[in-house]
Amino acid sequence: MSDPRPIGLFDSGIGGLTVLREVQSRLPGESTIYIGDSARHPYGTRSDAEVRTFAEELSDELVGRGVKAMIIACNTATAVALEHLRERHPSTPIIGVIRPGAAAAALATRTNRVGVLATIATVRTRAYFAAIKDENPAIVVLERAASELVPLIESGQTESAAITAAVQSAIHPLLTDDQSDRIDTLLLGCTHFPLIRRAIGGAITTPIAIVDSAAATASFLQQVIAVNGLEAPGSSRGTAADAGAEGHTAPAQVAVEPTHQFFTTGDTLMVEALVQRLFGGSSIRALPIVLGAGRR
Ligand code: DGL
Repeated sequence: MSDPRPIGLFDSGIGGLTVLREVQSRLPGESTIYIGDSARHPYGTRSDAEVRTFAEELSDELVGRGVKAMIIACNTATAVALEHLRERHPSTPIIGVIRPGAAAAALATRTNRVGVLATIATVRTRAYFAAIKDENPAIVVLERAASELVPLIESGQTESAAITAAVQSAIHPLLTDDQSDRIDTLLLGCTHFPLIRRAIGGAITTPIAIVDSAAATASFLQQVIAVNGLEAPGSSRGTAADAGAEGHTAPAQVAVEPTHQFFTTGDTLMVEALVQRLFGGSSIRALPIVLGAGRR
């Protein structure tokens, strides 16, 4: 069985492209549709009600465009709205970024002390605390908010005095001189933060594992689409979930060239330039999209 429909992803802006990048490298045969809500970022300083409304609009748009599975490529929207969106779209498998990131961090720590750097809204929900404790109740979870980093990154900054100051004030308390109190693993609990990994690394003076959700989420997506028999034509490797007792079904023979659509609620030219600057590579074409109350 195969399914040529695209995978949908959304974020408050361009941060979720860190997840899209991993999805494209792990699942090169899959088509994707990404929506970045750059006109309304940041989400991390908004109320839960606002984030839930925006997440509804974005997920409705993706379901309306026929996605076969969806990644909420935003920690804030995952923390606030994952369960709600699963109830709203029961026939679409929906994956958040928090559980995969929490599992990766729980496996990375050797001292059972994990720091989480996220937005205020994500920290407020304690979603990372609960998810890491679910993995291993012995882990001490120290959450720190650094919402001010998101608008700086959306403005194209990856290394600046403002970024350094925000990173240092957020993570300094996690890096005490007392070795028994110090974290050994820092989880980047915002999909924008892998873009400033160098600045974060520069603020850390002791050896620490820096973990993010992108690769773990893409790997989880791979399992979810395999289990549901949703792989793109030509992508199936055969899985334990394949129908029939006589072994794996053969991969579909005709591969369809995947397509990738990138929509933004922001200014398309500015977003294209921003993506080019932060991600490099061949330039990406941003298409305009209007959501919710802005729709005429
Ligand atoms: N990328 C979003 C996240 O992972 C950023 C949230 C925001 O816009 O503040 O939380």
